[in-house]
Amino acid sequence: MITIRRDKEALDSLRTIPLFAGVGDDDIESIAELLIERRIPRGYTIVEEGLAGDYMYVILEGEVKVTKLSGDGREKILGLLGPGDFFGEMSLLDNAVRSANVTSLVETRILALSRSDFLKELRHSPDLAMAVIQELTHRVRQMDEQASSLSFQRVKERAQGLLRRLAKHETSVVDRQATPVLTHQQIADMIGTSRETVTRVVKRLKDEGWLEQQGKQYLVRVDNE
Ligand code: CMP
Repeated sequence: MITIRRDKEALDSLRTIPLFAGVGDDDIESIAELLIERRIPRGYTIVEEGLAGDYMYVILEGEVKVTKLSGDGREKILGLLGPGDFFGEMSLLDNAVRSANVTSLVETRILALSRSDFLKELRHSPDLAMAVIQELTHRVRQMDEQASSLSFQRVKERAQGLLRRLAKHETSVVDRQATPVLTHQQIADMIGTSRETVTRVVKRLKDEGWLEQQGKQYLVRVDNE
């Protein structure tokens, strides 16, 4: 464990970290006094899901992965974090247990800030609080993107399943079978989504070459997976 230097150079280097970039001179000095540098070997779990949180960390050098075990026991990677990123703040903020595991992928240097110091500095420095809020907002945005692309993917799969089941009619086109005449609204009603979403999904499936349209019928490749 190494306490970080407090000279001008060390403070300037702290300012290169986005979390501290906007923090005023007095605040950065008091934060520098509280930070503890740690060297972490490769493959070490710094934060363990389900345990109480005691420190938050800022990465100086290296890379970590944020993971969670899914219901089927597989590891799901929530994110990869590198120099300038921070982690371990959530359980300090909401007083719940660690939400995920954080493991070093390479030898990594981090700065640690204890729960009480972190909370004290957040109350004291609006710039620090704003930087944390901005990062948390960024993460929520990413999660929203992922959730919507996952749900689009699921609707797409349901539409493919339906079209495959309905495509039973012979066509003049080799390797293709045709569905009955179908409106987007009917497809939407059958797979439990909106007409607008079906319109987007059908366009995507056509763009990908999975689906063709002939008049009011859809043509599905017989050898389609
Ligand atoms: P905490 O819950 O204390 O411990 C696990 C940490 O992983 C958490 O704080 C966050 O810092 C980090 N974390 C959790 N979810 C994500 C995510 N989706 N993206 C990036 N980091 C995350």
